[in-house]
Amino acid sequence: MFNKLKNDAPCWCKSGKSYGECHKEFDAKLGELRKRKYRIPSHKMIKNEEQLRGMKESSKLNIAILDYVAENIHEGMTTEEINTLVHTKTLELGGIPAPLNYEGFPKSVCTSIDSQVCHGIPSTEDILEDGDIINVDVSTIYKGYYSDSSRMFMIGNVHPEVKRLVEVTKKAIEVGLEQVKPWKPIGNVGAAINEYVQKEGFSVVREIGGHGVGIEFHEDPYVSYVSDWNTGVIMAPGMAFTIEPMVNMGSADIFIDEDNGWTVYTDDNMPSAQWEVTVVVTEDGYEVITW
Ligand code: MF3
Ligand code: CO
Repeated sequence: MFNKLKNDAPCWCKSGKSYGECHKEFDAKLGELRKRKYRIPSHKMIKNEEQLRGMKESSKLNIAILDYVAENIHEGMTTEEINTLVHTKTLELGGIPAPLNYEGFPKSVCTSIDSQVCHGIPSTEDILEDGDIINVDVSTIYKGYYSDSSRMFMIGNVHPEVKRLVEVTKKAIEVGLEQVKPWKPIGNVGAAINEYVQKEGFSVVREIGGHGVGIEFHEDPYVSYVSDWNTGVIMAPGMAFTIEPMVNMGSADIFIDEDNGWTVYTDDNMPSAQWEVTVVVTEDGYEVITW
C-alpha cells in the first residue's frame, strides 16, 4: 500500500503536488510505525490543505452560531427556542444544520439538560430553570464541509459541585489536547482524560466517543475517552477529529430513551457534562478549529 507511488506521480492527498514533494516522507514514517505494530491511519483520514481550509470556514460558522446561543440563552426559555436560534442563524450564515434529519434526528441541534448525557432533542416542553446545566451541541455544514462543537451553559445559580463538574469537563478537553501529537497513538488522549476525570472524582462515559470529522459528519477514527495509553491508531498531520468527553458526576452507566431512540441519560439520574472541540493534528502538535 505504501511507497508504491513514484516520486513524480500526483500525491494521493490530491494536493496537486508530486508524491515526492508531498506525502512520501509521511508514508515512510507510518511504514516504520506499522512495523513496530502500531495501527496506522488510512489515507482517507488525512485532509489536504484545501479540505482543511474548507473545514476552518465551516468552523467559523459553527463558532458564530454557538456565540449567538451564548448571547441569547436564558432562564425560562425552552430548548425549542434554542433550536430556532441555531436553525435560523445557521441558514442566515449560509450553512446547513447537520443534525436535522441525520439518521432521523428531528431537530437542528442537540440540547442536553442535567442528567441528559447527549443527543437531547429540543422541545417546547423543556424549559431552562435556575440551577440547570445544559449542553448545546452544534454541527454545521458549510460548502460541503462539516464542523462540530459543543459548550455547556449554566443557568442562574448552579450548585457548586455541579459547577465543578462543568469545569472539570472543560479542563478534561485541555488535558486531552496535550496528548495530541503527531506520530503518537490516539489512545493517549482518552487515557489522559480518563485519569484526570477519575482523580477529580467523576466518571467518563464509556460507550460513546468522538469521531473524525470534515468531509462527512462522522468519520474514522472513533475516539474513546476511556482508552489505554499507547493504544489506538497513530495520529498523523492532517487528521481531524473531535474531543468530546461526556463526564458524569456519579456512575458512568447510561441508558438511551426508548421512546425517541436518541436521548442518552445517566443511569443514576445524576448530572452529566460535555464540551466538544474539533482538533487538527499538525506537524508539530495540534490546532483547535472549533471551541
Ligand atoms: N456532536 C454530536 C455527535 O457527534 C452531534 C450529534 S447530532 C445527532 O454525536 F443528530 F446525531 F444527534
Ligand atoms: Co461530535
